[in-house]
Amino acid sequence: MTSSSSQPFSTESYFQTQKPPAGLKEKSEKMHNFVEKWKAVKSKKVVLVTSGGTTVPLESNTVRFLDNFSAGTRGATSAEYFLSQGYAVIFLHRLHSLRPFSRHYSHSLNPFLDLLSVVQPTTSSSSSSSTEPSIIVSKEYTKSLLPILQAYHDSQNSETLLSIEFQTVNDYLWLLKSVTASMASLSRRGMFYLAAAVSDFFLPEEKVAEHKIQSNKGTLSLEMDQVPKVLKPLVQEWTPEGYIVSFKLETDEALLIPKSRAALSRYGHQLVIGNDLHRRKYEVVFVERRNLLQKGKGDERLKGAETPPIIESDEENKSELNPTALIDKEEYKETWLRLDDLKNGTAETVNGKGRDGEVEIEELIIKELVDRHQRWIDAKM
Ligand code: PMT
Repeated sequence: MTSSSSQPFSTESYFQTQKPPAGLKEKSEKMHNFVEKWKAVKSKKVVLVTSGGTTVPLESNTVRFLDNFSAGTRGATSAEYFLSQGYAVIFLHRLHSLRPFSRHYSHSLNPFLDLLSVVQPTTSSSSSSSTEPSIIVSKEYTKSLLPILQAYHDSQNSETLLSIEFQTVNDYLWLLKSVTASMASLSRRGMFYLAAAVSDFFLPEEKVAEHKIQSNKGTLSLEMDQVPKVLKPLVQEWTPEGYIVSFKLETDEALLIPKSRAALSRYGHQLVIGNDLHRRKYEVVFVERRNLLQKGKGDERLKGAETPPIIESDEENKSELNPTALIDKEEYKETWLRLDDLKNGTAETVNGKGRDGEVEIEELIIKELVDRHQRWIDAKM
């Protein structure tokens, strides 16, 4: 068995040694059927949106687990805009994280019970239906709820949204592999929008305690293994024709662009969207090759490029020890999307405004992506 004391897990050894989660077959079938259905409609594009954080359970009868930060806002919001742009959407999301449409009425920010009013029965008893109290949406909320409800019903009636849940990082990796195998047959019509926050470390099966870890020993030491970077086989083997967008989250803004370039250079996919933890709702940066239609092969020399600290001095850039030194910065370009640009009149939205009057950064992101994805498709014709 591969573990931290021997070799790190490769993607291959991971899937050879870690058991598939319960329900994988049923979920995979649903995703496969969804892809096949929309593959038959030639004009339809399909996007996989991953959303929310993955967990790492410390016990198999799980009481405690480690979690990755993500409420699922980015994924759920983006899924709505992809639907409004005519995409069929597979929404692969963390159990209980935010979901398209219902996210507008999350229990903490906008509890749905607050929208409702009770209508008491009228005293004249000519109609039997008026003898019971009824519930309606209060008038002041109807205007904002209506377009959300309509878009939700549209997605239900047209069967363009499929939601599939994951919880652990193991669930996520198996489901991602499986859906990618189905989506590969879409060739360039498939887009991968990987917004989920995936654990970097995990406990292989043999290290997970069966029962609740007892606290009477005082301290708890954990030695975790590194999760293999599945983006690499995803780009280079599982779906070489798919349009692939990954995200890079940082808290130090200075690292955002160098680390996004490093990810792009390492994996060879089309686009990294960099976002700073505190500014992620107001601005993001697209990092991509200057020639948008070129897909790289990934640079073996950049193995591990995302982990070491990046030092931007000229001296360091010459060093073989610094992975960013190997990146030809001229090859890449950055495009910032900022909500502030809208206020200044330098950017346009798809619909002019978000549904509840507030413009959301995801609307700008999806508008840009739809254009790029179409160019990727057209380039093959
Ligand atoms: O949901 P919100 O609260 O709105 O927050 C949204 C977000 C900030 C979480 C989102 O915008 C975001 O940035 N998501 C990616 C977070 C991140 O940095 O993920 P990562 O470092 O675990 O992975 C980076 C990329 O590598 C990801 O696209 C992932 O698909 C990929 N990866 C990660 C781990 C792994 N083992 N294999 C991978 O291929």
